[in-house]
Amino acid sequence: MPSLPLLEVRNVVKDYETDGQKVRALDGVSLSVSPGELVALVGRSGCGKSTLLNLAGAMDFPSSGEVLIDGRSTRAAADELTRLRREKVGFVFQSFQLLHTLSAVENVELPLLLAGREKARETALERLRAVDLDGLQHRLPHQLSGGQMQRVAIARALVAAPRLLLADEPTGNLDNTTGATILDLLLRLTREQQTATLMATHSMEAAAVADSVVTMRDGKISDVKRK
Ligand SMILES: Nc1ncnc2c1ncn2[C@@H]1O[C@H](COP(=O)(O)OP(=O)(O)OP(=O)(O)O)[C@@H](O)[C@H]1O
Ligand SMILES: [Mg+2]
Repeated sequence: MPSLPLLEVRNVVKDYETDGQKVRALDGVSLSVSPGELVALVGRSGCGKSTLLNLAGAMDFPSSGEVLIDGRSTRAAADELTRLRREKVGFVFQSFQLLHTLSAVENVELPLLLAGREKARETALERLRAVDLDGLQHRLPHQLSGGQMQRVAIARALVAAPRLLLADEPTGNLDNTTGATILDLLLRLTREQQTATLMATHSMEAAAVADSVVTMRDGKISDVKRK
């Protein structure tokens, strides 16, 4: 029996307004991602990929339509929403967004501390080992390479075992070899932890590892290819 989707985007429209001008960033988008599934989101710059990821992670909200994370609408009340984000969603940003004054392990530990979980340090160290960063836990971000920073960011996104992983250009700033390592890691974690992973990318290599590739154009889905 196929499992229920962890992310459901239903006929979502997103309008932005800047200087009195309306921009329709998403124009009737529907998609779903199931546990253990990696979906790649591709398309030209400005087609709406990051907008969709932000809505999928309840960082922003649709103008119309609905986003459900593990069956819960992101229109939930503020306190439930904070819990939803904290407990269900991990986000990997293109620019890593590590905190520069915290070491690798402190960055990874942070979501656990915010959620009041026990054994935060121990879990964070385990997570760093899982991304092959054993021994680098006390380095500050600027003392790490781009690929190492991205692995810290992935470790942080996954440390609280989110059901839904959203990744915006996770290999964008990396060389091909490092990018391939990151992709292997994302795919392995998706399968092992049965996360639902949605990844925006410009890279053909990244799209190639995905279970399905969703192409967007001008705020709409123009093509879906399943493996
Ligand atoms: N906060 C905002 N205010 C106004 N317009 C926005 C805002 N964020 C995005 N847009 C516009 O919405 C459209 C979609 O942007 P989005 O960032 O989702 O594209 P993208 O597919 O992620 O592009 P890229 O590949 O360059 O990252 C673009 O036209 C963009 O200019
Ligand atoms: Mg983007």
